Amino acid sequence: MQKEKKVRMLNFPERGDDRGHLVIMEGEKDIPFAIKRAFYIYGSEAKVVRGQHANRRSEFVLINVAGKSKVKVRDGKGNETVYCLDRPHTGIYLPSMVWKDMYDFSQDSVLLVLASTHYDPEEYIRSYEEFVAALSTGG
Ligand code: TYD
Repeated sequence: MQKEKKVRMLNFPERGDDRGHLVIMEGEKDIPFAIKRAFYIYGSEAKVVRGQHANRRSEFVLINVAGKSKVKVRDGKGNETVYCLDRPHTGIYLPSMVWKDMYDFSQDSVLLVLASTHYDPEEYIRSYEEFVAALSTGG
């Protein structure tokens, strides 16, 4: 397993047969951390922008298990990349301390999120300026 903590797309093993598809995600194997939490987002309109935060500790994997959405990732140093999530067997790994926006949700979008932590609102940074400042001070 690749241990490097950088944003990257992940492909999950698929077991399809004439009964349909089955996609597998095992913590610390296909997912680069032990999974402590899962949540999913659906019913967001196309014009909605979610996320708009960074996390001091949490790492995430995002998978559109149905439909499509986009994720814009910013590193706080001027680099931003947009990823399209549109396949149930493909996800994106997001390390801690990246800024993310989720948007362009299709009507049938179900965005599954796996997290390395239990929920702690204190580790969320919801101001971009504060995020950039935290990057330069290391905290
Ligand atoms: P929020 O972080 O705004 O979601 P998103 O980043 O996807 O736009 O969370 C929405 C609400 O859900 C907010 O009241 C906090 C709550 N919440 C939890 O209680 N536990 C969780 O694990 C998450 C992700 C959110």
